[in-house]
This record gives sequence, C-alpha cells and structure tokens, in this order.
Amino acid sequence: MTVPAIEIQHISKTYGEVTAVADVSFTVQQGEVLALLGPNGAGKTTTIEILEGHRKATGGTVRVLGFDPAKRDRQMRARLGIVLQDSRTDPELTPRECVAMFGSWYPDPRPVDEVLELVGLTSVADRRSGRLSGGQQRRLDLALALVGNPDLLFLDEPTTGFDPSARRQAWQLISDLGTLGKTVLLTTHYMDEAEFLADRIVVISDGRVLAEGTPSQLVGPHTDRVRITFRLDGAVVPPTGLGVHQLADGSWRIETRETTATLHDLTRWALDADVELEDLIVRRPSLEEIYLDLVGSTPPEPASEGAKR
Ligand SMILES: Nc1ncnc2c1ncn2[C@@H]1O[C@H](COP(=O)(O)OP(=O)(O)OP(=O)(O)O)[C@@H](O)[C@H]1O
Ligand SMILES: [Mg+2]
Repeated sequence: MTVPAIEIQHISKTYGEVTAVADVSFTVQQGEVLALLGPNGAGKTTTIEILEGHRKATGGTVRVLGFDPAKRDRQMRARLGIVLQDSRTDPELTPRECVAMFGSWYPDPRPVDEVLELVGLTSVADRRSGRLSGGQQRRLDLALALVGNPDLLFLDEPTTGFDPSARRQAWQLISDLGTLGKTVLLTTHYMDEAEFLADRIVVISDGRVLAEGTPSQLVGPHTDRVRITFRLDGAVVPPTGLGVHQLADGSWRIETRETTATLHDLTRWALDADVELEDLIVRRPSLEEIYLDLVGSTPPEPASEGAKR
C-alpha cells in the first residue's frame, strides 16, 4: 500500500494557557484534495504549520510523505509547496525574481514564465512586489507554491482577496493539480470553494474535529429533508404542530420530508390567521448551512441532526 501523504494522530498544540489544537486526527491519501474548514481560531493554520514543520506539536504524531516534519528533512521540503496565510515575500523583489528564487530551491522547478502565466501575473512580473494589489500579492503566493512542482501543497486560504474570475481560475489550477496526482490540503472560508475543490472535508472547531467526509457525505443525510424558511411580522408565532423553530436572526424554519403537505398546512394556517409568510423559501440545505449548523452559528436543530459534538 502507498504511504498516505499526511497522517495526523491526536495532535495537540498549546501556547501557555492557550490551546490552539486540542485533538485533531485525519489522514490524506496521495492525490486527494482535502479542505480543512472551521471558524476563525479553530486551529487550521496551527495544524498546517505543524505539518509544514514550522511548529512542533505538543502531543500526538504526524507524518508527512512518510517523514516527521519536525525534523525538517530536505527531501521532504523539496516535495512541498506552501501558501502561508500571511505572505512573506520581499517587497523589493519583483514577482519574476521571487518565483525564480523559490524555484532555485527545488530540484525540478517549473519554468518561471509558465508559472507567472498560470497565476495571471505576466503583466506585472517586473513590478516590485510591494506595489502589487492584495489579490496580485496572493497570486504571487500561489505561484511560489507551484514553482517547485511539488507533490504536496499546503494552501492556507489561497484565494482570499481574489476577484471572482481570478478565484475561478485558481480553482481550475488547483483541481488540475489534483488531476495530476498531487495532494492538496487547503483551508478556506468559502464553502463554494470547498464544494468545488475538495474530495474530502474535515471541519474543526476549538481545536477538535467536528465532522469529516466527502461533500456529499456531509450534506447527504440532510438532502431528503427540505428546509422551509419564512419571516413573520411582529409578535406572531406559528403553531407548534407545524414543527417550526425560530433561528437566531428571528426567521422561522421547518425541516420536512413531506414538502407538499407541510407547505399546505403552513399556508392554510397563514391564510386562516391572516398573516403573511414573508421571504418564504423552500430548498435543500447547502454545504454552507450544514457547516453553520455544525459550528453552531444557528441554534441546534431539535434532536434530529445527530453527530454534532
Ligand atoms: N503563537 C501563538 N501564541 C498564542 N496563541 C496562538 C498562537 N498562534 C495561534 N494562537 C491561537 O491558537 C488558536 C488557533 O489559531 P489558528 O491560527 O490556528 O486558527 P485558524 O483556524 O487558522 O483561524 P483563521 O480562520 O482565523 O485563520 C487561536 O485562538 C489563536 O489565537
Ligand atoms: Mg488560519
């Protein structure tokens, strides 16, 4: 059997009183694109920094391409491409110089012009990096991760600041890496990005894994249920028999497998009571909604959704 690209078992990381990572385990197979999702401060960057060898775990075991990353083995580092959450390029160097310099550290780099073209930086290749726009700087970060032609890429929020078309191009680029058999571990706060790119998703919060699975496994158990949401004016409260509960933003939600009958009951009540169902929406839950339920930005569902914590 081939060695997994990444194996993490029960890692933890504390800084004095602060627990950045409490207990995280997951495996990424070679050729897989895994998205690590979670709210600000969940421990995503810390986990990635441990995998890169920037930080040492307080507890647990980590293997990256079969190596212990804490030893910062040259053979391992030559096979890694990294986009850090904060870019650390020299503002005095041009994108062309930065990419060439990073490429020189790898045994089999891609041609500089090709990489600049791939990330859409050809027209500003000779401008000083300090003068690039935020999105252009982020493209440069992605170029630096690609130039070494690495087997394993760590991309920590790689498309933050990208305009919509640059984001789409980056998605294509990243999914092409997957097709070439490269392994990608990425973090993102964009659920559409995770849904588009990830073979598998791991959701963490407060340094612990909340859920893991393919996008369809995460959304799957909820797809036979439809969500009906609406708003009511003033202090009107719908009858409890409809299975309605109120969300944090004041709107109301029903989850049902019997869409037609439930809508019928709801609208009949509204007509009888002479109330308007404002912003009435009927749809299947998205990955974003499942994610928000998991990390607790909306009140928990009434004893229905199982594995929360
Ligand atoms: N060097 C440090 N010293 C003390 N606490 C730290 C340090 N680095 C990170 N932390 C804390 O560890 C926790 C996890 O941080 P981390 O950067 O891993 O979160 P994240 O999931 O990447 O969040 P974001 O989505 O905002 O990037 C946070 O509470 C953070 O404040
Ligand atoms: Mg982070």
